[in-house]
Amino acid sequence: MGLIEVKPRSFAYLLQPKPVAIIVSIDSSGKPNGMSAAWLTPTSRDPPLIAVAISPKRYTYELIKQSRDFTVNVLDASMVNESELFGRYSGRSMDKFEKSRLTLARSKMVKSPYIAEALTVLECTLYSEYPAGDHELIIGKVEKAYVREEAIEGDTYNISKAKILLYLGSGKYTTTLDKQIT
Ligand SMILES: Cc1cc2nc3c(=O)[nH]c(=O)nc-3n(C[C@H](O)[C@H](O)[C@H](O)COP(=O)(O)O)c2cc1C
Repeated sequence: MGLIEVKPRSFAYLLQPKPVAIIVSIDSSGKPNGMSAAWLTPTSRDPPLIAVAISPKRYTYELIKQSRDFTVNVLDASMVNESELFGRYSGRSMDKFEKSRLTLARSKMVKSPYIAEALTVLECTLYSEYPAGDHELIIGKVEKAYVREEAIEGDTYNISKAKILLYLGSGKYTTTLDKQIT
């Protein structure tokens, strides 16, 4: 059994599974919208920065450019249906929060609200933007970070408690093991 070649355009899924978050932003009247995102990565500790690759086609892209802030809401494995709802429909044509059982709460440092049921919440202000092919790297400065009390041990997830929703690509999901391997 050797290596088989895949199309370069399919490489991204070979770097997954990755945690799924709903990126919440608001329109000019303050109405919230959310979008599922798996192409997320930290880029700096000091200042604390996170990059999200967002296609300019997304309504979320338009909203973040206007409101200049957003929240990152990491999902757990019980929220796979929400990931599909927020990842398959656009807020241009549907109020996704009205269709979901998720509840929004007021953020402390940013205008965009956060999802009360999320495993982890990052309140972010827009720090910088970089064109990057058919997506754009939206860099957020993490102003506040929260995690569910039972899901953390020291400064890492307690893997026996946190069931992080992981996206494989092509509509397939998995979750984390319930024990560490080291
Ligand atoms: C699990 C999952 C992960 C996704 N990750 C991203 C992503 O990282 N970046 C992106 O631009 N779109 C991503 N998408 C697609 C958007 O979530 C989707 O196009 C969504 O309908 C956009 O919503 P909006 O138009 O309301 O912003 C993902 C979809 C799913 C289901």
